[in-house]
Amino acid sequence: MKIVQTASEMQQLCRSLRTDNAPLGFVPTMGALHEGHLSLVRRARSECAAVAASIFVNPLQFGPNEDLAKYPRTFDDDCRQLAAEGVALLFAPTAAEMYPPGAVTKITVDGIGDRLDGASRPGHFTGVATVVAKLFHIAQPHRAYFGQKDAAQLAVLRQMVRDLNFDIEVIGCPIVRDADGLALSSRNRYLSPAERVQALALPRALRHIQQIIATGQRRSEELIRQATQELATVKVDYLAAVDAQTLLPVDIVEPGTLVAIAAWVGQTRLIDNFLAG
Ligand code: PAJ
Repeated sequence: MKIVQTASEMQQLCRSLRTDNAPLGFVPTMGALHEGHLSLVRRARSECAAVAASIFVNPLQFGPNEDLAKYPRTFDDDCRQLAAEGVALLFAPTAAEMYPPGAVTKITVDGIGDRLDGASRPGHFTGVATVVAKLFHIAQPHRAYFGQKDAAQLAVLRQMVRDLNFDIEVIGCPIVRDADGLALSSRNRYLSPAERVQALALPRALRHIQQIIATGQRRSEELIRQATQELATVKVDYLAAVDAQTLLPVDIVEPGTLVAIAAWVGQTRLIDNFLAG
């Protein structure tokens, strides 16, 4: 695996990897890799002739009081894992390479970018859309792989790709969970053993909602009311049933409706979701 730090070298190498009958897959990450990230790489490997990945803890998507400084950085381990999965190229730029002095252009996805996590974390999705647009221009992949774990991010990026005519297929991949149901996240490393147990309230509440839906109850208000009772040990940021494309709230949960939660467990903000059947 070749590790590249500059945008110009990455662009040049990706251009040579990318041919029409040899599709290039791309997996953007912020590192601290786990099986969730690796599932995207494996999917990309299974569908593309070559796979490029990126590791960049993007300062633009962190708020002033968020965890940018303490975000876990495990670069050497990440490289070993990506190499073992057959990634051909890893782009690992510095912040100065991505945002040189004088860079002022940002991409804001209006409306949808201010919903769910965008409502709780003002500017977050502008940071995500801006860095992903830059990464897309640098890697110019045929396909880019994102996790359904970050369902709002996926919706925002699909909107951006449509609006800006990126010639890239965005592929959403299923949530990878630990055996006990907790969705894998780089931020799970922040949890104490006691918090790790508390965090199970998120998947438990979502499972509860799925069970109630299976009984025929599809009124969002009622589903959320019942699930909220399970969430006493965590501080809920949002629990919502929304249209998976627009992220606008729905009154009735239909097949494909996104039911998403964000909650604080101690100092750690976790998210999880499912798509209704
Ligand atoms: P990061 O949190 O590192 O996640 C990188 C990719 O891995 C995202 O597409 C995310 O949805 C996916 N992912 C994380 N946990 C997962 C899980 N348990 N199952 C399946 N997929 C999972 O998301 C970002 O980085 C950044 O916002 C980024 C898109 C790289 C832009 O900076």
